[in-house]
Amino acid sequence: MALSQTELKREVARAAIRYVEPGRILGVGTGSTVDLFIDELAAIRDQVPACVSSSVRSTKRLEALGFKVIDLNELGDEGIGVYIDGADEIDPGFSMIKGGGGALTREKIVASVSKTFVCIADASKKVDVLGRFPLPVEVIPMAAAAVKRRLEALGATVTLRDFTTDNGCSILDAAGLRIEDPKALEDEINSWPGVVTVGLFANRGADVLLLGTEAGVKTFE
Ligand code: A5P
Repeated sequence: MALSQTELKREVARAAIRYVEPGRILGVGTGSTVDLFIDELAAIRDQVPACVSSSVRSTKRLEALGFKVIDLNELGDEGIGVYIDGADEIDPGFSMIKGGGGALTREKIVASVSKTFVCIADASKKVDVLGRFPLPVEVIPMAAAAVKRRLEALGATVTLRDFTTDNGCSILDAAGLRIEDPKALEDEINSWPGVVTVGLFANRGADVLLLGTEAGVKTFE
């Protein structure tokens, strides 16, 4: 019988445990796959001195399981070794669309100070070209209409999500883009006034992909 998407997510969540470096601070992302990873992580809690979390949602889950969660500003020179997070889409070059859960800005910040980004995803997330999943763009609320018009000029159909981010901002979801050059589009959208973060993770993509498939977890490095 075919495995459900949740079962595939659980498989990659389990597989990610071997990337946790004992005694080092761990970066933890956000989403349903990461929720399952946090549950698995509880079995090795004594090996994780503290975590840096990318959302209030993950912080609450970690703390409920007894993990210490520190603010990124408390982090010493050692930085973060491994950051484990999901994705909404990932392409063959390990560029990703992220932010379906609305945590894209903090995810990008934590990823930027981490040595290794381990992406955990079920097989449905692997695509040849990014863009089937609507691209999230976090914006300062007063810039929402202006940024929406610029995204529409790129050919996207844009909706304002009924959601406020952990940073008090808004999210526009831009559907219908075929993203052939993710680095260039990330740079362009990030340069627009009022944009906090675009959910394209291309200039700093994943280093390792653990993909949950019917044939088991596949590792791409
Ligand atoms: C959160 O903002 C996102 O970037 C998630 O990492 C992404 O949406 C993956 O979510 P799931 O694990 O729930 O599919």
